[in-house]
Amino acid sequence: MMRIRNIVILTGAGISAESGLATFRGSDGLWEGHRVEDVATPGAFVADPHLVHSFYDARRAQLAEVEPNKAHEALARLDAEWDGELLIVTQNVDDLHERAGAKRLLHMHGELKSGLCLGCGERSPVEGALLDYPPCPHCEQKMLRPDIVWFGEIPYEMERIETALMRADLFVSIGTSGAVYPAAGFVQSAKYRGARTIELNLEPSQGSIFFDESRMGPAGELVPALVEELLADRA
Ligand code: APR
Repeated sequence: MMRIRNIVILTGAGISAESGLATFRGSDGLWEGHRVEDVATPGAFVADPHLVHSFYDARRAQLAEVEPNKAHEALARLDAEWDGELLIVTQNVDDLHERAGAKRLLHMHGELKSGLCLGCGERSPVEGALLDYPPCPHCEQKMLRPDIVWFGEIPYEMERIETALMRADLFVSIGTSGAVYPAAGFVQSAKYRGARTIELNLEPSQGSIFFDESRMGPAGELVPALVEELLADRA
């Protein structure tokens, strides 16, 4: 492997599958009979806030029943031990990366454990149900929405992500189908700038042709193996 100093890692629903969280586009499809447009767009929230709150409240509650798996743990170890630049960009709204100990982490699609106030625009931690309409801790208005980036909305931290991609020597995509942009385009940005690109997934993703290397299998096996390789090749 070429000399690597700066790493960007993109993760998707597949990295949390072995923890027991359903993916979006798998056969166990997350949406429970709801079309994506029924729950994951700003228009859906305006049309039926009750449905949208119930949906995300159930998913927030589910976090208490699941644990980080070997893939999350391996990335947390890489984060702790890697001397060069490293950024883990997750599309996931669960909290399993941070519970495993990852620090250099960014939730580009928001977080279940966060609420976004439609009154004052502040983000704040949420533990219980948004369906109970708790007041915003900043402005006291009862106008919190799930702090989730819905279809048609712009993901968080795009500038920081693009900067990291430009500097990356290695881009790794883990457990994502490559169906949703802009994340699906990160591999091309990184490759264009000269980074080596590797995907770890159960099956080839939609952007598979852009990767220098595709390793197919469960994240719980592939991620610890890659982390071992990276740490062994360091010195
Ligand atoms: N290990 C590795 N990969 C896995 C595993 C596993 N154990 N289980 C499933 N996968 C793979 C699937 O083969 C699939 O390619 O993970 C991928 C999950 O793809 P999606 O369900 O489409 O999830 P994701 O790519 O994260 O979705 C992107 O879509 O709805 C939006 O905002 C939502 O962030 C989400 C975005």
